Amino acid sequence: MTNETLSPALCGAAHRLRLAQRLASAAFALGMLAWSGGAPAHGDVTPQAVDTRALPQLGKDWRAENPYRKHDAAIKIGASAYNQNCARCHGLEAISGGIAPDLRKLENDCATLRDAVKKSACVKEVDEFFAGKVRRGVTRNGAVYMPPFEAMLTQEAVWAIKAYLETRREKKL
Ligand code: HEC
Repeated sequence: MTNETLSPALCGAAHRLRLAQRLASAAFALGMLAWSGGAPAHGDVTPQAVDTRALPQLGKDWRAENPYRKHDAAIKIGASAYNQNCARCHGLEAISGGIAPDLRKLENDCATLRDAVKKSACVKEVDEFFAGKVRRGVTRNGAVYMPPFEAMLTQEAVWAIKAYLETRREKKL
């Protein structure tokens, strides 16, 4: 239907209707944006398996030390894996809201060490501690403080998350 076939009043009504429809669909689109951006913003999403096929594969045996330090692809995958699996408790961008430890501080004690050998031993110790916690979780007196992730996350995913967290350190090494 073209405007010529409508009386001026109808034409105005049709125009208002089209405008309303456009506004409604714009509002809907904005709403969808807010919604889809909102879920990860709260970190409140179902735990997810993580696709780590793009990373060097590590085999069955767990490494004692993060093999992906400063590995760009690992950091990217780790950031998303962190948001899917850890942020709901440890906070967005690893900034803890207080319910769980602030993982930016994991290596604070290492950062103050001057001796390079001691420092790298310290970081390695934190790596082992980290992998152990993530794999087994934390249960005390029958209460689950943190669920175990061993069945959910591959070794590659766990170290990718650590590589991401290393970019979020509170104190630089
Ligand atoms: C259901 C909430 C929850 C989720 C999800 C969660 N954690 Fe935790 N995490 C905790 C709590 C609570 C603690 C402290 C446990 C305690 O009291 O020892 C903790 C402790 C840790 C620790 C030990 C920190 C320290 O300084 O003692 C590490 C490392 C850790 N979490 C990493 C992770 C990673 C990585 C993920 C995602 C794969 C994750 N957590 C998911 C709640 C959670």
